[in-house]
This record gives sequence, structure tokens and C-alpha cells, in this order.
Amino acid sequence: METLFVGQNIIHLKSVDSTNTFLTNLSKNSSLVEGTLVLAHEQSQGRGQQGNKWQSEAGKSLTMSLLLFPKIDIAHQFLFNKCVSLSICKALEHFDIHASIKWPNDIFINNKKVAGILIENSIQKNTISKSIVGIGMNVNNEALDFSFATSLKMQKSSDFDVNQLLAILCQELEKHYLLLKSDRTSINESYNNYLFRVNLLSSFLIGGMAIQGIVKEVDDMGRLVLEIDGRKQRYLWGELRFNLS
Ligand code: BTN
Repeated sequence: METLFVGQNIIHLKSVDSTNTFLTNLSKNSSLVEGTLVLAHEQSQGRGQQGNKWQSEAGKSLTMSLLLFPKIDIAHQFLFNKCVSLSICKALEHFDIHASIKWPNDIFINNKKVAGILIENSIQKNTISKSIVGIGMNVNNEALDFSFATSLKMQKSSDFDVNQLLAILCQELEKHYLLLKSDRTSINESYNNYLFRVNLLSSFLIGGMAIQGIVKEVDDMGRLVLEIDGRKQRYLWGELRFNLS
């Protein structure tokens, strides 16, 4: 692993309920170095956003949780999410795959979800003292239960080396994590370029109504900025969703 600390300490598990739950509990009961990574071959109770389940096929997916101590102000909490999403897209580019970030937490390839992120933070005195960054990616799956999901193999018709993918992802995560402290502007600019359907007219559901808008950016508070009839409007997560057909 060509990193300073991300993934230098890896805990390999054959089977676990959830790597996020496992790392959360372990980090409460023992002192772990920053960058500790939990990697599971099989995950039975994978957790997703908003209490959803995350399903993964044994040995065919990347199922990992990373321990970081960002010590950043909660006002910049979303910048940390941006850092993780961006790292995943940059890692996939090493494999000639152009992925995009469907705000707030999904990684898409060709209109289908390939990876999801579940970040669980501990806050102390207005700063994020500890963060468990859970990433699930469909890698060598040949078929998936959901029509809106895809895998790297389904996109590229070839097998991927999960260890190689992990090594590159760790490098990108470390690089962007370090940038978080030194160059927020570059993270923001780069992130906006990867936004799903950026600068394209799209349909959204807002309070049950279909509305046409153009994705412009995601602001520092994590709000999606849409241009609607020439005016910029900001939306919090939960206030709208893409109306994808
Ligand atoms: C989502 O898209 O809703 C987020 C999915 C996050 C899944 C990953 S898999 C590794 C880690 N452990 C979990 O239980 N969840 C995350």
C-alpha cells in the first residue's frame, strides 16, 4: 500500500454483520491508529443511508470502513463527504471509468448506482473527532437485484482486481483527505465537475411536484444548488430528489 497511513493497518474479516458497526465498536474499546481499515469478504447486515440495507455479494464487492480523525469544524462536515466521493471517482478513473457523484452520497456510472457511502461521525466541541467512512462498491457482480444498480464488471465486461482497486482508492482517499486541510477550493471545484448531470436540464421531484432545473453545484452546507428559471435555489437533502425515468 503506497500511502502514509490510509490502509496501513488492515483488519481482514471473512464475514461480518457490518464493517461500519464492527469498526465503530472496535474503536470504542481500543485505540486504533488513524487510517485503520476494516475489509470484509462477506457482509450480512450492510447498512445504507436512511436506515436502508446495503446488499453485497460475498467476494465480489468492495466492502470497507475506514477510521479517520478529521478534527474539522462541523460547519465543513459536507466538505469531508465531498472528499470521499471525489476520491472514489478519481480512483475509478485509473481504470478508465468515468463515474459521477449523485448528490449527496451515491456514485453513478451511466445512470446506474455502482457505489454508496455511509459516513458516521462522532462530534466533540463542534468538531468531527472521529469518522467511520463506509464504502460499498459493486465490483465483479455479474447481475444485481435492482435495475438501477450496476457493477464495474457489468460496465466494462471484465474482471477487476479488488486489491488493486483498494490500493488506488486508499491513495486517493489519503490525497484528498490531506487536501481537505490545505486546499478546500480545489476539492470544491473538482467535486462540482463530477456532479451527476451537472449543467444539464433535469427533472426533480420537489414536494411531489415535477420541476425542471439545472444542477450547478453543492454548497459548503451540502445543499444542492439548482438553477430554476434563471434563478439559483438551494435544497437540503430530503427536500428533493431526481425524477429519473
Ligand atoms: C448507501 O448507498 O446507502 C450507502 C451504502 C454504504 C455501504 C457500505 S458497505 C461497507 C460499510 N458497512 C456498512 O454497513 N455500510 C457501509
